[in-house]
Amino acid sequence: ARKFAVYGNPIKHSKSPIIHTAFAAQFGHRIEYRAVRVELGDFERSARAFFERGGAGLNVTVPFKPEAAAFADRLSERARRAGAANTLHPAADGAILGDNTDGLGLVRDMVVNLGWAVQGARVLVLGAGGAARGVLEPLLLERPHSLYIANRTASKAGELAGIFGELGDVAGGGLEDLEGRAFDLVINATSAGLSGEVPPLPPAMLTERSCCYDMVYGAEPTAFMRWAAQHAAWAVADGLGMLVEQAAESYYRWHQARPETGPVIRQVREVLA
Ligand code: ATR
Repeated sequence: ARKFAVYGNPIKHSKSPIIHTAFAAQFGHRIEYRAVRVELGDFERSARAFFERGGAGLNVTVPFKPEAAAFADRLSERARRAGAANTLHPAADGAILGDNTDGLGLVRDMVVNLGWAVQGARVLVLGAGGAARGVLEPLLLERPHSLYIANRTASKAGELAGIFGELGDVAGGGLEDLEGRAFDLVINATSAGLSGEVPPLPPAMLTERSCCYDMVYGAEPTAFMRWAAQHAAWAVADGLGMLVEQAAESYYRWHQARPETGPVIRQVREVLA
């Protein structure tokens, strides 16, 4: 069996082994996929050892995505701009290629699975940390009308707007700058939900046709999803579909085969419940 793994810390609740094993079953591929908790400071050594032992592909999650980008010998354009890689694999010449499939996964879940429009939409991204940065390029390549980045710390949103401005109409500011603006698509990329919080947001930024996406997921609707539904958003979703879609993009890079994601999204949803 070819060997794959996901490296992160913490890693206990990772659904990646279930997802990749389910994909492999669709094709009859024989794989071994392990979730490995890597100690902080030990990423580079562990990743090097993994590939020296013949590892065929590595997924990387929090907090090692920036280190994975630094580790890769060659990076895709989007991983370079994100400053983060979630997918590593060896090329024929042994060089380690790094890519970031998070943004593709997000776009695919919203556009294909949920039927939400990104093209032409007024998009708001909440947060300016690693999670936001990882998805901005694929979002902008969908040609939204405009993309606003709002962050508790306004200066970080401004920095990201500068980095991604060449890809479209991008601006950034603080959460207080949302007053008086309205959006068709709102993507929560803050980590506020991990402690059950919702950033302070003006309800008037939603219209009766706004779609709201939370990049995190859980057994229950997230605090941000509940906030959006209370304020009459048209549609709300959590990030489970994004998780499965980014895994499918990794799978495609490693196996040159595109798995069916719908049944796997339903399978992981059942495991969560
Ligand atoms: P991640 O990799 O999940 O993006 P991160 O890089 O630490 O993690 O970024 C966390 C993001 O969530 C930041 O945008 C952070 O805002 P600040 O830059 O102002 O710190 C945002 N965030 C975290 N907790 C928040 C809260 N309670 N309210 C609003 N924003 C919050």
